[in-house]
Amino acid sequence: MISISGAILEIKNLVTSFKIRGEYYAAVDGVSLSIHPNEVFAIVGESGCGKSALALSILQLHKGSATKVEGVIEYKGRNLLAMRDDELNGVRGKEIGMIFQDPLTALNPLMKIGAQIEESLSVHTDMNAAQKSERAHELLTSVGMERPNLVYSQYPHELSGGMRQRAMIAIALVCRPSLVIADEPTTALDVTIQAQILDLLRQLQRESQSSVILITHDLSVVAEMAHRVAVMYAGQIVEIAEVGELFHNPKHPYTRSLLASNPSLESTGEGLLHVIKGMVPSLDRMPRQGCRFAPRMPWISPEAHESSPVYHTVAPGHEVLCGCYEHFRFE
Ligand SMILES: Nc1ncnc2c1ncn2[C@@H]1O[C@H](COP(=O)(O)OP(=O)(O)O)[C@@H](O)[C@H]1O
Ligand code: SF4
Ligand SMILES: [Mg+2]
Repeated sequence: MISISGAILEIKNLVTSFKIRGEYYAAVDGVSLSIHPNEVFAIVGESGCGKSALALSILQLHKGSATKVEGVIEYKGRNLLAMRDDELNGVRGKEIGMIFQDPLTALNPLMKIGAQIEESLSVHTDMNAAQKSERAHELLTSVGMERPNLVYSQYPHELSGGMRQRAMIAIALVCRPSLVIADEPTTALDVTIQAQILDLLRQLQRESQSSVILITHDLSVVAEMAHRVAVMYAGQIVEIAEVGELFHNPKHPYTRSLLASNPSLESTGEGLLHVIKGMVPSLDRMPRQGCRFAPRMPWISPEAHESSPVYHTVAPGHEVLCGCYEHFRFE
């Protein structure tokens, strides 16, 4: 897998496992990737493929003790997985901000929006009350709130879905983090608001020159927003490339299938009209050996494809976890 020095975040062989009925199952299985400064890096894949498990692993936000996170996650050269809790708390929200799909569960329902923004400033800076209030108002304006003064003193339930998402973005950005992880930030919103929030994220990313990991199941969001993209299937990255390269030269059958199911996207490559049937298996039904995608290509005999695929370089920066992508055909 690609590993480029100068990366702001470097994930090496990440394995995140959940305990189910006494046994651990890997929801993220051997993921390696690098995030460069000032880039939007998308992670795309169907529901259940491990995108959130990966995102939560970076700041170790999994709730409960039945989760094991192994591997290396280096942020600016420091391994987050080896940090003590107090060190990690210094990174969370300050150096790395997080935007979740559902602001209602991420925001504190009992605290006014202004106070929630200022709380993060109290933890991570030594600003006085007036400075914190000024920064909170400034942020509420920059995330496009029409009446920032009113929102400052409102509770989350008093805001619309779009405004709540803007408030969460304000909280994520309050300490000017170098990296923002946005996990399906627009999935719960209607289409018009989705477009506004994506515009806002893009504008803020350009202004702040931060890096963004944008997690989505929607390839049109990737086309719109990202520089590079990793396609995840069943806990693994099956293909990684620059966005234009992936759309015009997709190699993995899963990527081609995803593109085929989104005909509005301009893309090329043979077999794109075919959508592979099936869904991501649950963790306890994951193939334990061989290619995890094989159950969705039952017409290919085991001898005809790599039994345990490794990464192959298609072009510089473009890798695929399937050695026989040149030979298979869609049924
Ligand atoms: N806390 C958990 N305990 C057990 N299984 C989990 C837990 N969180 C996620 N999973 C399982 O891990 C897999 C990946 O889930 P997730 O990362 O949420 O996928 P995505 O975000 O891509 O939809 C799914 O099979 C899901 O059911
Ligand atoms: S290795 Fe075989 S089963 Fe797996 S994706 Fe490639 S062709 Fe399909
Ligand atoms: Mg998710």
